[in-house]
Formats: sequence, C-alpha cells, structure tokens
Amino acid sequence: MALATFGTCFAGFGCGVAAISAQRCWQRNPQPTRCVSPSDPHSQNHQRIAKCNCGQLNVTVTGPDPERISLCHCNLCQKQSGNVFAVQARFPKEQVKIEGTSTVWKLTKDEADKLEYRNCVSLGGGGSFHFCPRCGSTVWYMADADTARIGVKIGCFTDPAFPPPKLSGFEDYCHPWALETASLAVQHLK
Ligand SMILES: *[C@@H]1O[C@H](CO)[C@@H](O)[C@H](O)[C@H]1NC(C)=O
Ligand SMILES: [Zn+2]
Ligand SMILES: [Zn+2]
Repeated sequence: MALATFGTCFAGFGCGVAAISAQRCWQRNPQPTRCVSPSDPHSQNHQRIAKCNCGQLNVTVTGPDPERISLCHCNLCQKQSGNVFAVQARFPKEQVKIEGTSTVWKLTKDEADKLEYRNCVSLGGGGSFHFCPRCGSTVWYMADADTARIGVKIGCFTDPAFPPPKLSGFEDYCHPWALETASLAVQHLK
C-alpha cells in the first residue's frame, strides 16, 4: 500500500500530527480512503456522551454518527420526555458504553397496543426504557425488535451540532407551533 493513500488527510494538521493520525488510520483500516480526525463525525474515534441531569447515568458512544435518527410526536414519547416531541438515535451496541444505575420501564407490545393512544412502541414491537432513579431523565432504551442497537435520547447529548433527524413519525399528534415538520427535509411517516 503506497503511503500516498494518506495524501487525502484533512488539512489543518501539522506534518507530525498528520503522520501519527495516518498511522492510526492505517492500523484501523488497511486500505483507508481518507484519514479523519476524532472530532470528525465519520471517524471511528468520534465520541459523544449522553448524560442524565445529575450525571450518574451516562452513555458514551464511540464511532461514526448513526444512520437512524428519528423524531416522534406520539403521545407516549410526549409523556416520556415531558415535552411535545422526542428525538432519538440508535447506535450499534459495540459503539456504546453505559455507566451508572437506571430504573427500567418495560413496555411490551401487548401493553403498548392497549394504551388509549397510538404510539411508536406498539409499532416497534415493545421496548425497555432506562431512566435515572435520582433525576428522572430517560437516557437510553432498547427496542425489543432491534437488540443489536442501543437507542439514546438526543437531548441528553446537549449538543446542538448533533445531526438532525432523518425520520419524523406520528405527525398527527404534533403541536402545530412546536415544529413545522411538514417543511423539514425528512421522511414523513404516519
Ligand atoms: C458516568 O457515570 C459514572 C457512574 O455513575 C460516573 O462514575 C462517571 O463519572 C460518569 N461520567 C461522566 C463523564 O459524567
Ligand atoms: Zn440522574
Ligand atoms: Zn413515539
């Protein structure tokens, strides 16, 4: 493999740093197409930390930003967040480290079906939601139908640079003043 492959390293590094980061890229991937700095969202080393309000429950995700980022207006998400919509993303389990204690609220598909409002947990086949027993923030969850990934509530990252959602669901429940979702460049689900 020619070292010239590393010619595409991002600008802004001094030569020495570029050489070190090129080496790391090389170690991770024998045929890198480009080298990225850890702050780049495509980097395997890119790190984000989601925390509850008191901080004892936290989730560290390491790796590229996730594919699935969704916004949901369903009544269940509204009640769970105490807000008028919720935004969450799913990360492959291997990218996720969970620390701290949580209380689990498990909602099976059967239970979700019986709620008096349509909701995404019924649609998604049940799930387990983990919230901080001290401050109450729901930080992470797992959908029963998608146990290879951990869902994280985006608000817990407190990072306005987090990429925007790619899906918007249950828009019938949307508070019209809250978001003009119809004009967002997202896939609109019923
Ligand atoms: C994450 O939680 C653990 C356990 O409560 C705590 O020891 C650690 O300091 C927390 N990390 C951050 C970055 O807040
Ligand atoms: Zn807490
Ligand atoms: Zn929902």
